[in-house]
Amino acid sequence: MIKEYLVDYSSNSNLHGLKYIGEKERTFVEKIFWLIMFTCCVVLCSILIWKVWIKWNISPVIVSFAETSTPVWQIPYPAVTVCFETKAMQTVFNFTEYYHQYNNESTYQNLTEEERFLFEDVSLVCDDHLAPKTGRKFSLGNVTVDNLKELSPNITEIFLGCKWKDIPKDSCTDLFSPILTEEGQCYTFNTLNADQLFRVENLHKAYNYLEFTNTSQSWTLEEGYPPDTPLETYPHRGSGYGAKSGLTFLLKARQIDLDYLCKGPVQGFKILLHNPAELPRLSQQYFRSPLSQEVVVAVKPKMMTTSEGLKPYDATRRQCYFPSERYLQYFKVYTQANCEMECLTNFTDARCGCVHFGMPHGPNMTVCNAGSVPCMKNAQTELVTAEIQSGLENDIHSNDTLGDARKVAAQCKCLPACTSIEYEAETSQADFDWKALFRAYKLPTDEEDLLMARVMIFFKEAQFITSRRSELYGPTDFLANCGGLLGLFMGFSILSVVEILYFLTLRVWCLLARKRRPQTNILYASPELNGANKKLKTLNVD
Ligand SMILES: *[C@@H]1O[C@H](CO)[C@@H](O)[C@H](O)[C@H]1NC(C)=O
Ligand SMILES: *[C@@H]1O[C@H](CO)[C@@H](O)[C@H](O)[C@H]1NC(C)=O
Ligand SMILES: *[C@@H]1O[C@H](CO)[C@@H](O)[C@H](O)[C@H]1NC(C)=O
Ligand SMILES: *[C@@H]1O[C@H](CO)[C@@H](O)[C@H](O)[C@H]1NC(C)=O
Ligand SMILES: *[C@@H]1O[C@H](CO)[C@@H](O)[C@H](O)[C@H]1NC(C)=O
Ligand SMILES: *[C@@H]1O[C@H](CO)[C@@H](O)[C@H](O)[C@H]1NC(C)=O
Ligand SMILES: *[C@@H]1O[C@H](CO)[C@@H](O)[C@H](O)[C@H]1NC(C)=O
Ligand SMILES: *[C@@H]1O[C@H](CO)[C@@H](O)[C@H](O)[C@H]1NC(C)=O
Repeated sequence: MIKEYLVDYSSNSNLHGLKYIGEKERTFVEKIFWLIMFTCCVVLCSILIWKVWIKWNISPVIVSFAETSTPVWQIPYPAVTVCFETKAMQTVFNFTEYYHQYNNESTYQNLTEEERFLFEDVSLVCDDHLAPKTGRKFSLGNVTVDNLKELSPNITEIFLGCKWKDIPKDSCTDLFSPILTEEGQCYTFNTLNADQLFRVENLHKAYNYLEFTNTSQSWTLEEGYPPDTPLETYPHRGSGYGAKSGLTFLLKARQIDLDYLCKGPVQGFKILLHNPAELPRLSQQYFRSPLSQEVVVAVKPKMMTTSEGLKPYDATRRQCYFPSERYLQYFKVYTQANCEMECLTNFTDARCGCVHFGMPHGPNMTVCNAGSVPCMKNAQTELVTAEIQSGLENDIHSNDTLGDARKVAAQCKCLPACTSIEYEAETSQADFDWKALFRAYKLPTDEEDLLMARVMIFFKEAQFITSRRSELYGPTDFLANCGGLLGLFMGFSILSVVEILYFLTLRVWCLLARKRRPQTNILYASPELNGANKKLKTLNVD
């Protein structure tokens, strides 16, 4: 019965070769030949389809350049964050002096508790090896932050003058505002305010990271500026290019305030250009603006967008997150840097039981102090290796906190955001001799120990080319590829599938239904008799 059925299928199928296998007139050798041929084609075809499938599955994304260039006024001017390397002015708090007193047993006794705590707080933002291992492990974040703010130079003591688009500002407070980072108190320009950058409801309330109220009117990382946005808005748009349409600022420092112990022999300022929706991490990336030098920074934006066609794909396959796909506990906007910051916070908390005051954290986390600095430093290096190892088998020798921390690290998976903006800086510098200029003008130079630095930041070109992630293979392309191979090897088409389905379902059902009917219909029921009928007919015609 089944054999008859298969013969029926093979004689009617539109797949090449199958016909000859089923036909009665063919000799055994012919049948074997066609069977082998058919099997070879099926195997070869399957191998090729498997290859196409792997290509589709493993690399569905292609990154190419957008067809048109983007003018710089469509993106925000980079956010600029400036940190001074002198964390405590020597005239206010002599860190070098306290370091020697703290580390000498006989003088340690003579320090008051307040002085010790102050020293430990400052050592948090200095080089890692200076932090006393015997110091407090935890402290109240609000007290530490207040102490550091008091000792570090304030905005009028660092900035001498600012110009935005070639218009001098009365006071730099119009442009720059304080921001708390891992490097202590820094100053930032064009960053979103705390309400728009953080999920304030999840953060602790002990102290603020950002203290200003400039609200972004309409810009979002994903959508950019709406078409009706005026030219003057916040975050500032990049309008124009060249030195005249950028940000220029003068920085100052007094020789007597510099501390060479805290941050080592390189004094001056650290500067980072970043996306306005991102918390800067100056301990990792920065360029320098040395004292008595002018730095000219030409900025080239690097933007990456993603086509809508990639939305249905899994995030790990397309290697980026759309904003709705990833929730960050402490940040409103998903960017890779924000995610990494949060991941480090979670990991440090799991490993050390506390976090650095510069990391945004929840109300249940305590703030680390000098005694935990070695642990925080370890956590940073461990996180890198934990992320690499999370794909490998679990380390059997790891003890409890490390095991827990690995679990935290495995959760992170900080892929890039599908729309991202970065700013590449091209710097050049030259001596900035303000005293020679004053002498030339015959002005008095009374403040002999004043050091200055000038920074100019502007877009290099009026437009740039955006990169774009899009589908290498859509589902249609995949289907077309498979169809081509199947057609080439077997003469396969969608109708062949329909035919197979028909033989498996409808025809079986029809045959069974007919069998139950009266005998008169039997002539047409059996395929064999049908064949006989046909033969009779052909004989008659002959
Ligand atoms: C700070 O202390 C060091 C070492 O004791 C000393 O050389 C330096 O002059 C002090 N600085 C100030 C501003 O008092
Ligand atoms: C510690 O301080 C005392 C008094 O200032 C000094 O005599 C001694 O040499 C110091 N010890 C060290 C190891 O620096
Ligand atoms: C510490 O203080 C005591 C008394 O207050 C004083 O006698 C001693 O000389 C001080 N030691 C140092 C090293 O300053
Ligand atoms: C810091 O916060 C604690 C409670 O969290 C509070 O008791 C203390 O007064 C605060 N200190 C300052 C200087 O604000
Ligand atoms: C900065 O500190 C100086 C004194 O050190 C003070 O006169 C000035 O008002 C402060 N500026 C701000 C903005 O707090
Ligand atoms: C913080 O701790 C309190 C009590 O210890 C708990 O009720 C609360 O759920 C915790 N919050 C978070 C975000 O873990
Ligand atoms: C876990 O390992 C760390 C060092 O890797 C060690 O200092 C700590 O004592 C260990 N804890 C336990 C419970 O074994
Ligand atoms: C950090 O921990 C919080 C709370 O456990 C969690 O909601 C969040 O997703 C974690 N962040 C990352 C980047 O894994």
